[in-house]
Amino acid sequence: MTVNQPASAGAVDGVADGVADAAEAVEFLRLFHREAGQPFPLADRIARVRRQISRTGTYRQTAAELTFGAKVAWRNHTRCVGKLYWRTLVVRDARHLQDPAEIGADLLDHLRLAGNGGRIEPVITVFAADEPGRPGPRLANPQLLRYAGHRRPDGTVLGDPATAALTDRARALGWDPGPPGPFDLLPLLVDVPGQPGRCVDVPRELALEVPIRHPAHPELTALGLRWYGFPTVSDMQLQLAGLTYRAAPFTGWYVGTEIGARNLADRDRYDLLPAVAAALGLDTSSERTLWKDRALVELTAAVLWSYRQAGVRMVDHHTASDQFDRYTQAERRAGRTVHADWAWIVPPLSPATTALYHQRYDDTVLLPNFVRQTRPGDGDGRPGSP
Ligand code: ARG
Repeated sequence: MTVNQPASAGAVDGVADGVADAAEAVEFLRLFHREAGQPFPLADRIARVRRQISRTGTYRQTAAELTFGAKVAWRNHTRCVGKLYWRTLVVRDARHLQDPAEIGADLLDHLRLAGNGGRIEPVITVFAADEPGRPGPRLANPQLLRYAGHRRPDGTVLGDPATAALTDRARALGWDPGPPGPFDLLPLLVDVPGQPGRCVDVPRELALEVPIRHPAHPELTALGLRWYGFPTVSDMQLQLAGLTYRAAPFTGWYVGTEIGARNLADRDRYDLLPAVAAALGLDTSSERTLWKDRALVELTAAVLWSYRQAGVRMVDHHTASDQFDRYTQAERRAGRTVHADWAWIVPPLSPATTALYHQRYDDTVLLPNFVRQTRPGDGDGRPGSP
C-alpha cells in the first residue's frame, strides 16, 4: 500500500509525527497494573514497550490494555455526565483495518451493535493508531449519524447548519441525497491517508430515528420533527498510552436536553423555538412572557416522551445528574478525584434544580482521554463551549 503524508498530518494537535510517547506509555502501564483485575509482570512489559518504541517509533498495545485504556479515557473525560457507566463500555478492536471500504462496513456494524434495537449500549471502535510516517485513518463526520445541512442560494441552510461544510464535501465525493430535506442522514466519509476519501451510505434503519411528538399538543407533533436514536462521536482522537487513535467513534445514549434544548433549539442549529412557540400558541410579543423557556420545556418533554414511546433509550437531565452523583461517590470510595468541566455537565435546562449546579469540579484533563481534533473546514461546533 502506498503511504502518503497529507499536508495536515503532524503539527496539528501536538501530535508530531506518529512517534509514540514512551513516558505516557509507561505512566499508563503503571495505572493499568495498579487497577487491572489480573496483574502482569510490569517491569517486563515496560521494558518491552520501551524497546519497541526505540526500535520502531511505536509499539502495539495488547487487547487488554486497549480495552482498559478506552474505559479510563471515558472516566477521565471532563465533558461527560454519563460516566457512571464507564466500566460497561464495549471496546471493538478494528486496528487491523486499513481499507476504507472495510472501515465503512465496520462502522455500520458498530451502529448496529450500539443501537441494539433501541437498548443503546456504550460502544467504541478503535481503528489503527498513527505510526511514524503513516497517520491512521480518520472520519470526517462529527458523529456517525448526523443530518445534512444543505446550503440554499440565499445563504441559509436547510437541515443542520453545523454540517454544511461536511455536506458540501459529501456532495463533492458524489453523494446524491435526492431532493434535499431537513433530516437527511449524511454518508460516512472515511479518510485513509494516501487514498481517496470514501463515502459510505448509512442505511436508514440503523439510525433508529424517532419522530418527535407531543402527548398533549398535536400542533407540535405536526411540525414533523425527528432525530436519530443515539449519538456516536467520531471526530475526537483517543490519546491512549502514548499512542494517538484518530478514528475511535464512541456511542452513548442521549440526554433529552441535548436534542430538545440544544440541537433543535440553538440559533445556529435548527433554531426551532419560534416555530415551537407558534405551535403551542404562546405569546411571543415580549421576552417577559418566557415563551422561549416554555417552548424549551415542551420540546424537551416531547423528545423524552417520543423516545420512550419508540423504545429508544434516553435519560432525562435530572436522572443524569443523580447518576453523576452516584459516579462521584463511587470514585471517592475508590480513592480517586472526579474530573469534570462544570459548563459541560450541567444541563442547559433548569440547571439549578440539579445537584451538579451547586458543585465545583476539578477540570484537569488526565490521560488517557478523548481530545478534540479539528480539521480545516469542519464547520462543526464552537471549540471550547458546550
Ligand atoms: N451533544 C451531542 C449531540 O447532541 C452528542 C454528544 C454525546 N452525547 C452523549 N449523550 N453521549 O448530538
